[in-house]
Amino acid sequence: MTRPVVIVTRGLPPAWLRALAHCELVIGPDDPPPPATVAGTPWAGRGAWCERTWSRLPEADAILSLLTEPIDAAVLAAAPRLAVVSNMAVGVDNIDLAACAARGIPVGHTPHVLTQACADLTLALLLAHARGLVGAAADARAGAWTTWSPTGWLGRDLGGDTLGIVGYGAIGRAVARRAHAFGMRLLVHTRSPITHAPGDPPLQAVALPELLAGSDVVTLHVPLSPTTRGLLGADALAAMQSHAVLINTSRGGVVDQDALVDALRRGAIAGAALDVTTPEPLAPDHPLYAMPQVLVLPHIGSATVGTRRRMAELACRNVLAGLEGRPLPHAVR
Ligand code: DGY
Repeated sequence: MTRPVVIVTRGLPPAWLRALAHCELVIGPDDPPPPATVAGTPWAGRGAWCERTWSRLPEADAILSLLTEPIDAAVLAAAPRLAVVSNMAVGVDNIDLAACAARGIPVGHTPHVLTQACADLTLALLLAHARGLVGAAADARAGAWTTWSPTGWLGRDLGGDTLGIVGYGAIGRAVARRAHAFGMRLLVHTRSPITHAPGDPPLQAVALPELLAGSDVVTLHVPLSPTTRGLLGADALAAMQSHAVLINTSRGGVVDQDALVDALRRGAIAGAALDVTTPEPLAPDHPLYAMPQVLVLPHIGSATVGTRRRMAELACRNVLAGLEGRPLPHAVR
């Protein structure tokens, strides 16, 4: 009996892929260079190993993709047998959903399993900014800690500050619960009606301009889509308070990054903490790195051992369901 061919676009620990043991796994490289930013295929210019992986597309029954690989019309055209695309991420902006739908190929993703890890990281960024952790640690390491200072390294209290949460899906809600526990007041902007679950904190649903004008910290938790691309542009940033901080753990494209650099340079907002950028990785000479009021992380929202393993396992379950012609446990709607 022939084994289903599954392309796993990047190297993953074998234990995470155990559920696919009966498949022929074509596993991509661990750390390939990012996909070509010019028009081309996801494997163009990324080295021989990438090309070897993707050259198996004509035989592929499934693709288990990572958010770094665009699964676009070119990929689908090269994969006539494809029964399922399973993204090991909750966000699916790397996948051409319309092209998949046109071919009747179901697309899976990995919601819920990363909610807590992403909310934890958002709070870590919130705290790091409020208390100036990065600068204070750098000063201590550099020998600038000469005495306990009554006026040195002063930050902001979170208690009493207002957090504006843009997007109130699972991650936005988990952030709200944590921030409430720190005594923050909550403003929420979401397109869908807010349903209250037991344990949810008190919050005020507001329009985006009201949230931007009224928040000490704004945090983004919306997926990247044509509607949300550039949502935080020059006008939105101008509507924020000059002492306010922007946190982005969603997708870089939700923020107009040039407008953000400009707003930070002019002091229109006080700082930013970004787990996601455009592009990823952000070039080391990017002006955001040179700004002491900006913290940039390498997209680590879901990066805990347990979370990444659960994401991979869920992605495998979506692959298996797709191969067997069953509804995916977590299909993108
Ligand atoms: C996702 O799953 O979309 C996250 O960005 C991964 O960290």
